[in-house]
Amino acid sequence: MSDTLSDQELVAAFENAGQGHVFRFLERLLPAEREVLFSAAREIDLGELSGLCQSLLPKEGAAHSGPALDISGLEPAPFIPLPENGGDAALWDKARRVGEEALRAGRVAAFVVAGGQGTRLGYEGPKGCYPATPVRGASLFQVFAEKLRAASARYGRSIPWLIMTSSLNDAATRKFFEDNAFFGLPREDVIFFQQGRMPAVDSQGRILLDAPGSIAMSPNGHGGSLRAVVTSGAARQLRGRGVDMISYWQVDNPLVQIIDPAFVGFHAMNASEMSSKMIPKAYALEKVGHFCVLNGRQTVIEYSDLPASLQEERNEAGELRFCAGSVAIHIFDLAFVERLGGTGAGRLPFHLAHKKIAYVDEGGAHVKPERPNGFKFEMFVFDALPFAERPVIIEGRRGDEFSPIKNAEGVDSPASCRRDQLRQWVRWARAACVALPVGEDGATPFNWEVSPLFADSAQAFVHKWNSLAERPQISEGRVLV
Ligand code: UTP
Repeated sequence: MSDTLSDQELVAAFENAGQGHVFRFLERLLPAEREVLFSAAREIDLGELSGLCQSLLPKEGAAHSGPALDISGLEPAPFIPLPENGGDAALWDKARRVGEEALRAGRVAAFVVAGGQGTRLGYEGPKGCYPATPVRGASLFQVFAEKLRAASARYGRSIPWLIMTSSLNDAATRKFFEDNAFFGLPREDVIFFQQGRMPAVDSQGRILLDAPGSIAMSPNGHGGSLRAVVTSGAARQLRGRGVDMISYWQVDNPLVQIIDPAFVGFHAMNASEMSSKMIPKAYALEKVGHFCVLNGRQTVIEYSDLPASLQEERNEAGELRFCAGSVAIHIFDLAFVERLGGTGAGRLPFHLAHKKIAYVDEGGAHVKPERPNGFKFEMFVFDALPFAERPVIIEGRRGDEFSPIKNAEGVDSPASCRRDQLRQWVRWARAACVALPVGEDGATPFNWEVSPLFADSAQAFVHKWNSLAERPQISEGRVLV
C-alpha cells in the first residue's frame, strides 16, 4: 500500500500512525530480515487499518462480539425452486440451454478459493491437496481438475481456472500442480494468485509482531478473493479471453458442480451481477448462513446473527420460513468483481475474529497466549451480495452439491464426505439400472469410485454406462475412469 515510500519514510508513516513499535527491533535484524519486515509493512494500508480499529475493536470493557446487527424487517430471500419442488421445468430447461450456449462461447471461468488455513481439519499442507476420494485418494484439486476437463470436453472450450492461494500455501500449491503435471489440464488455463493479508492487532489496535522481524500477518478471508482477482491481473486476463462470468466455490467441497449450465443460464438470463445456490437447511438450527432480504437488498445473515426463534419459525404449511442455507457457491459477473474488488466505493466490510495470536513481547521474547489476545480482520465473500444488482438464487440438491471436509471427525469430515460421494454414485448407478447393495446410510458397504472423467452427473453416468461394450462389476476397489 506504501510502495512508493523509502524505508525511512515508511518507518515515519508507521510512527505517525502510532505503529512505530513494529520497527523496534530493526537494529538487531539482518539485512534479509529487514527486507521481509519492510515488505510486509508495505502491504499494510495504515489509513484502512486505523479506520477498522476505530470502528470494529470493542471499546474498553465491552464484550468481543462486535456491534449487533439490526435485523428489523428481515424477510426470507426469494429463490427459484427445483422442478421437483414446484419449480418451472421448462424454465430450468431453458436456463440449461442458455448456460450451455455461454459455455460453448467461452464466457465462463472457474474459480476456487484455496487460501484458508484449514486449522479444523489439521492437515499439513494446502487443503486442496487433501486425499478426498474413497479408492484413489484423489486430492480435492484433482477432483476439480477432472470435473473441469470433463466440462471443457463437453462444451468444446477450455475453461480458465483461477486458484486463489495465500502466502502460507502458495508455493506448496503450485508445486503440487507441477508434480502432478497439472492433472492433464493445459497449464495456460490454470491461473494462480495470492490473496491479500492483514496484520493482527491487540485490543488497543497495535500491530502484533510474531517475531522481531515479522509482522503477524494472515490471509484476509475468502472475501479477499474479489480484490485479489483484480489486483493480481487475473480479471484483465479473463477479459482478454472473452470471459464475463466466474463460477466460484470453496476448496473443501468435492461434491460441488463447478460448472453447472442451468446455474450459468439463470445468471445470464437475469443479467445478474451475483448469483447463488441455496440448499434447504437440513434442520432448523443448522449452522449455515441464511439467504434473506434486509432493507430491500439480498444478503446472507449468519446463524449466529439470526435469533433462534427466526431460524425455527415455520409458515402455515409447516415449512421453515428461513429455509435457504448458503453453501458458498456463486457466479459473479466479471464487471461486478472489477467494481467491488477495485479501490473505489463499495468495498466489502471487514469482520473481526478474536483469536490466540503468538507474539513477541517488548523484550523480544516469544509468547504463546493461553486465551485470545488479539484480533484478525477478514472479509466474507457473501458480503458482496447486497451490492449486487439483479441477484438470483436458485435451489440446489444437497446430495449433488455440498459435503465439505472441514473437521477431522464427525460432521463435515473426510468420513462423512466419503459416504456422501458413495451415495451420489449409488444414485447414478441406480439411474442406469445397476443394482448395488446399499446400507441404511444410502452408501455401498464397500469403497468404489467414479472419476469425473467417466461421468460428472447422473445423466452422464447413464450415457457412459450404456455405451460400454463390457460393463464391469462394481465391487470393492472398482474405479470407473
Ligand atoms: P473456512 O472458513 O472453512 O476456513 O474457508 P479454512 O481456513 O479453510 O478452515 P479453518 O476455519 O481454519 O478450519 C472456507 C473456504 O474459504 C477459503 C478456504 O480455503 C475454503 O475454501 N478461504 C478462507 C480463503 O481462500 N482465504 C481465507 O482467508 C479464508
